[in-house]
Amino acid sequence: MRRGLLDIESLTRPEIEAILARSKDFQPAPREPFKRFESLRGQTIVNLFFEASTRTRTSFEIAAKRLGADLISITASGSSVSKGESLVDTLNTLGAMRPDAIVMRHSASGAPHFLSRYLPVPIVNAGDGTHEHPTQALLDALTIRDRLGTLENLRVAIIGDIAHSRVARSNIFLLSKFGVHVVLCGPASLLPREMGQLAPAIELTTDMEEAIRNADVIMMLRVQLERQHEPGFATNEYFQFFGLRPEHIELAKPNLIVMHPGPINRGREISSEVADSQRSVILNQVENGVAIRMAVLERVLTQ
Ligand code: NCD
Repeated sequence: MRRGLLDIESLTRPEIEAILARSKDFQPAPREPFKRFESLRGQTIVNLFFEASTRTRTSFEIAAKRLGADLISITASGSSVSKGESLVDTLNTLGAMRPDAIVMRHSASGAPHFLSRYLPVPIVNAGDGTHEHPTQALLDALTIRDRLGTLENLRVAIIGDIAHSRVARSNIFLLSKFGVHVVLCGPASLLPREMGQLAPAIELTTDMEEAIRNADVIMMLRVQLERQHEPGFATNEYFQFFGLRPEHIELAKPNLIVMHPGPINRGREISSEVADSQRSVILNQVENGVAIRMAVLERVLTQ
């Protein structure tokens, strides 16, 4: 059975290096159109999204098509999930049509891992609950390397709703495998101590200035209100304490880059001045998402 991509935690550094290296072949040269490839011609991929998505779903679609694959996109609201069908039944139904791979996003942590034990189809995790978002961490690593030349010995501050962030978890696993110094920062109610134990030498702080001082990379996160039953802080105060503003930038290294997986909430976790500034690589992340997902799909379907 071909292996899918379920998480970053279980990948080795050489496996990550291989995906990053292949994605370079898929990045278009500046001002040149994307090239089309044929490596997945004749293969069928099902994109199954049980949660909202703009960037991830579209970039998986574009990635599959640029490799010549056929892709079918299914969203929960337009499928029989809205008629009460269980996850296992939905997946078995799709599995019976023999797709070559399933890309899935689900609100339950571990859903893709669970299904991969039952279905003979490789599954690519496009985000599972608060657990992992492996292709996001890969595209983030590619973006950092493109801008700063290396991952080794960088200081990366991840700021915001750490508790509910699958992006933070996947990045912690990936960056730690490359010797990055990771600093996690957010309100105490969104900064569980356990997150500091996911990898060695993770620093935790509730002080945003301390997190940013000497940082090479600032990665901002959205507050995941949809995953919180009772927000532990007043939302209108959030920006005052944890919103990234121009005055923060001087505390960091001169070649600082500002990242955000999107969707951004302007005026909540990031000011427009910073989001639209020269420091921001938010749209480079989106662009790199296509190249990374091409590399991942090709690997999953051809190895
Ligand atoms: C993130 C996600 O869905 O986990 N977005 C994304 O995939 N680019 C982050 C978020 O929703 O805040």
